[in-house]
Amino acid sequence: MEVVISKNGKSAGAHDKLMEKIVSLAKRRGFVFQSSEIYGGLNGCWDYGPLGVEMLNNLKLQWWKEMTYRNNVEGVDASILMHPKVWEASGHVENFTDPMVDCRQCKGRFRLDTLFDELSIKRKKEVLRSFDEAKYAGQLKDEVVLADFIHVSSDPANATSILNALTCPTCGNRSTFTEARRFNLMFKTFVGPVEDSSAVVFLRPETAQGIFVNFQNVQSSSRQKIPFGVAQIGKAFRNEINTKNFLFRTREFEQMEMQFFVKPGSDDQWFEYWRAERMNWFVRLGMKKEKLQWHRHEPEKLAHYAKDAYDIEYLFPFGWGEIEGIHNRTDYDLSRHEEFSSKGMRYFDEETKEKYTPYVIETSAGASRSFMAYLIDAYHEEEAPTAEGGVETRVVMKLHPALAPTKVAIFPLVNRDGMPELSKNIETDLRPSYRVFYDDSGAVGRRYRRQDEVGTPFCVTVDSQTLQDDTVTVRERDSMQQERVGVGGLKRYISDKLA
Ligand code: GAP
Repeated sequence: MEVVISKNGKSAGAHDKLMEKIVSLAKRRGFVFQSSEIYGGLNGCWDYGPLGVEMLNNLKLQWWKEMTYRNNVEGVDASILMHPKVWEASGHVENFTDPMVDCRQCKGRFRLDTLFDELSIKRKKEVLRSFDEAKYAGQLKDEVVLADFIHVSSDPANATSILNALTCPTCGNRSTFTEARRFNLMFKTFVGPVEDSSAVVFLRPETAQGIFVNFQNVQSSSRQKIPFGVAQIGKAFRNEINTKNFLFRTREFEQMEMQFFVKPGSDDQWFEYWRAERMNWFVRLGMKKEKLQWHRHEPEKLAHYAKDAYDIEYLFPFGWGEIEGIHNRTDYDLSRHEEFSSKGMRYFDEETKEKYTPYVIETSAGASRSFMAYLIDAYHEEEAPTAEGGVETRVVMKLHPALAPTKVAIFPLVNRDGMPELSKNIETDLRPSYRVFYDDSGAVGRRYRRQDEVGTPFCVTVDSQTLQDDTVTVRERDSMQQERVGVGGLKRYISDKLA
């Protein structure tokens, strides 16, 4: 796991242990595995295990319902491979690049901005001062350092001095880097059997373009009127030079994006509307409010298509990191597709008889990144009493029930006296409605702990009292409170609680 210096300047080293615990739990309990692990793994790629895929699906379902179960948002599922002209029109062929350098000594390959990011704060300030003594002589705010550096280093006149100031993190040599080259992050492949330039296609680096190119199809087939949105969940691929921090920056990931088409002039108002909606969604699904913040992009650092942009950032153990971007993309994408395809992308307003190119407010969340944020946010260690009267550390994933991979665990207290049969009946009754887990091995206390660790909201135990009065113990994960509930009313009880 790579360690980064967070934007707030704190060394992530202090939080490494927490990340290690979460990565290890994710593997041990079947949330996330390294891709192709038996062959040593493939950098920047991860596999979701039995509990992980369930939780990821729950997260995507919550997003899908939130975004498309409204009268003014439709869904699509566009193909990953698209006509190569799409990426010329979108600006990705020209602009979707990172500055990359190679170390001449050890042949390591790095992103220029990442090399800078890994310097100590003191060194960063020294480097910046060497470019502009007047501007950087005084107290520098830590969080603006990296952004300023990217700005300074994007000027080719500064390239050599920048490279001389940096040290190779692998071999430790100074002033050893090749000139920075622009490296396009799109993965290339070929359609058909001939691998020549006419057959090149790209794996999409964002799902958004599949929505733009279908704007007219969706509008005419659904008969939506502006303002309306189109939502999509799907894989995106970026050949990141450096992947880092578990699921945070990977080469293959999933996005949950929505493009909301509005009349120019109403874009600022819709931008604010969607900002509020999206922040509230994370909080409603259980993310701690105090671990979320807005980061507004400074005007000179906006993406080539954006008029305004805010990121929703989560406080990861390694610092604040973006989990979703809300962008005002203006009419950039539709205009460019109209220009490159020669197909009309304008909208005719039947009421006002006006024809215009809509502006777009985009909400773009990473499904994989949000998944990781939810895992981290839910992870708690607390002291809990043992059956023997002692105290132990209880690891509990306090996931929102809607995200929890397993909703109910069912335990027979002992494997005799008819308890397994009764437990199996309960399992049969609940399984069509919920993902349930049947566990009859080990002490009940241990079985509770195993479920706490994966965030199961309810554990149902069949015990000797069940044999007498047909009630079971239902234990709630976070409070550990236990209640006796009649078997006949159990399904209703669980559904009320989960609702
Ligand atoms: N359509 C706009 C767009 O793609 P972005 O800020 O590049 O904007 C949106 O990406 C979201 O996708 C990010 O907020 C993040 O959650 C996720 N994302 C981007 N690159 C990623 C990567 N390499 N690994 C994991 N998630 C990533």
